Amino acid sequence: MKKEILNFKVNGTPYEIEVEPQMTLNEVLREQLNLTGTKISCAEGECGACTVLVDGKPELSCSMLALAARDKDITTIEGLAKDGELHKIQKGFIEKGAIQCGFCSPGMMLMIKALLDENPNPTKEEITAYIAGNLCRCTGYVKIIDAAKAAAEA
Ligand code: FES
Ligand code: FES
Repeated sequence: MKKEILNFKVNGTPYEIEVEPQMTLNEVLREQLNLTGTKISCAEGECGACTVLVDGKPELSCSMLALAARDKDITTIEGLAKDGELHKIQKGFIEKGAIQCGFCSPGMMLMIKALLDENPNPTKEEITAYIAGNLCRCTGYVKIIDAAKAAAEA
């Protein structure tokens, strides 16, 4: 299939790359840009592991065509730390022990970033509802919610 040009920004860096039109955003991020912090798990829109921010809003990168990201600003987990300093959400996850296998963590942290950008001081119930689509098999969610709360209060 004929490749198409994709112009977009990822973590503030502008890219102009050729992509296959059927490629997902997840495939382009992981395989062409080598940004493997964005995970792939179910690959069918059910688990949230592949979540990235598109113009600040959470999207499932496994279920979005890369070409749909044309002219958009993408944030992946690699874009959270700035100048060598971890983002307060990353610090919260470490402080509260909210990471076990880590597979859900990038998507979970980006989801929480979108929440805190919208609502800087969410209740535990609001955090729980916001991350309901992001599955974690390890932590039981309590420490993740504590980490989000700690980030909001930081
Ligand atoms: S890998 Fe995208 S929702 Fe599960
Ligand atoms: S830490 Fe293992 S899936 Fe969440």
